This record gives sequence, C-alpha cells and structure tokens, in this order.
Amino acid sequence: MNLSEMSSLKGRDFITTQEWSREEINHAIETAVHLKKLKKENKPHRYLPDKTLFLFFFDKSTRTRNSMEAGMTQLGGHAHFISAETSQVAHGESPKDMGIILASYGHGIAIRHDLVPGEGNAYMREVAQHAEVPVMNMQCDIDHPFQMFADLMTLREEFGDDLRGRKIAVSWAYAPSYAKPVSVPQGLISLMTRFGMEVTLAHPPEFKLMPEMIKQAEVNAKAHGGRFDIVDSMDAAFENADVVYPKSWGILDLFGKPEEALAIAKNYKSWICDAKKMSLAKKEAIYMHCLPADRGSEVTDEVIDGPQSRVYPEAENRLHTAKAIMALTM
Ligand code: CP
Repeated sequence: MNLSEMSSLKGRDFITTQEWSREEINHAIETAVHLKKLKKENKPHRYLPDKTLFLFFFDKSTRTRNSMEAGMTQLGGHAHFISAETSQVAHGESPKDMGIILASYGHGIAIRHDLVPGEGNAYMREVAQHAEVPVMNMQCDIDHPFQMFADLMTLREEFGDDLRGRKIAVSWAYAPSYAKPVSVPQGLISLMTRFGMEVTLAHPPEFKLMPEMIKQAEVNAKAHGGRFDIVDSMDAAFENADVVYPKSWGILDLFGKPEEALAIAKNYKSWICDAKKMSLAKKEAIYMHCLPADRGSEVTDEVIDGPQSRVYPEAENRLHTAKAIMALTM
C-alpha cells in the first residue's frame, strides 16, 4: 500500500498549517496515529520505498533533522542532509536553480530557514514555485508546521479529539542562549484557534508577534468558536489553563542584532515557568515546550521533569507526524 497514492495530499506542499484544511489536518493526524502504532508493534511500514527527500538547513536542529531522517529510513526511503553553509547556496545559488535540480534528483525538498524575518517563508515559496515535488517547511520565520502537527497530536492524546473550550497559555519566557524564532508561538496561535481552543498569548511589550499572524489568530478564533486574547504577564495567561506552553522568542526588528534582543530579554528574568506559576493553571494542566528549552531560565527542572510535563511524548510525536506528512505528500 502506498499512503500517498490514496491521498488527495499527494504532491502538496506543506508550508503553513493554514494552507491545509481541517479535514486534511485530521487525516494527517490519523495517519500519524496509525504509523505510531505500527512502529510500537515493530511492524514494517515502507510506504515510501526508494524515495529521496532532501533536507536543507539554514539553521541548527536536533528533533527536526533526526525525526525526518529516521522517519524516511523507516518509510523505506532515504533523506539527504544538506547544510546551506556547505552547499553552493552559500555562494549565492538561487532558490529556483536549487529547486529545479534537487526536484530532478528526488521526490521531496524540506527546508529550515527560520532566523531572518521576511526571508525564510519567501525562500521556500520560491523553491516550491519551481520544484516539481512537494516542498516542506521545517521551520520558517512565520510557522513551524511539523511542530504544530506534533503538538496537536499530543493535545489530542491528552484531551481527546475535541479540543473546544480547552485553554492554552502561549507565553514568552526568558532564555539567554539565543534569540529563538517566533514561528512556534505564531504557529500555535493560528492553529489551535482553528480547533476551537481558547488561546491566550502573553509577552513583554518588546516581544510582539507579526501583526498578520495576530490577525490570523483572531479570524480563526471567530470562524471556529475559539477565543484569542493577549495579556501582559505569564501569570495572567496561566490562570485556569489546561495547557501551558511558555517559551522564549526574539524581537522581530532585532534578529539582525540578536545580542541587543538578549540584553533586553534580561529585564524579564522573572518570566520563568516554575511550580508557583504552574499552580495558577488547572490542577491537571499539562506543560508543553517544543524544545530545546533553556533549563533554569525558561523553566525550572522541577516543572520540565515533573508529572505535568509532556515534553518527551511531544518530541516523540515529531517522528510520527513527520512520517505522516512525508508519506501522504511524497
Ligand atoms: N522543536 C524543534 O524544532 O527542535 P529542533 O530545533 O531541534 O529541530
């Protein structure tokens, strides 16, 4: 059986979750559940025999790279890792030439280009315009759709398929390691509102998200019976939440000067997810984070290693959802 042959998603790009209908998203999550079961039962599931996927990275990765490489192997195909730094892109080769040529060698192109607002998503769309194979977004400046599908799957495992009325707190948190992309909080506010969740966003004044993504979240909440609110403290966001998702991100205008953003972030070291903040959420609330987390800054060990944390199942679901998307589109 070839999953993609049976799928209306064969050949589709995967650039933002917004471009897939809720039915298509549900189908992808159901496929991920099926693939997770097969893996747990050690049953072979070679839905992409002899297929090649190119993984093109402009930034570092642990989960995304390895879930996709391992996933392609388990599906019977192969993934090539390409670093932008060591390819001819570093010498200025165009996305058009790269897209046409890699498409002629394989069956899919996945790209991570997440640290320059205004560039990553546009780059992928240019590759997609010229590549005759699906183009997948492994995180851009706007969205992180692979992470979003894994998060949706994790939420459904916890609360069931109907997430309407569940409150998720998407909060900025302090991190000294690097100015992290804005694509995860943006992906969360735009996707979870489409499934009727009550999404509350919190951040210090300098750490705003892109206005078009705020608008998208408002439109999605209105269309699907969810809620979208913005508050100015982690405490306010956590109040009565079913899910807390505190993580750091950078300042939109300062991705070219990350040291300045990190200096401003130091004013907000109190934005850490600790046991006291967790006590503001519902007693049975869960803690999520896409990882990597700055332990001791974004979150205490007590919380991330505690009973409410779901970070490891969430990270594991990156594998199953990545395999579903690759198997359905390639
Ligand atoms: N969550 C996530 O995308 O992790 P990596 O940066 O390690 O790929």
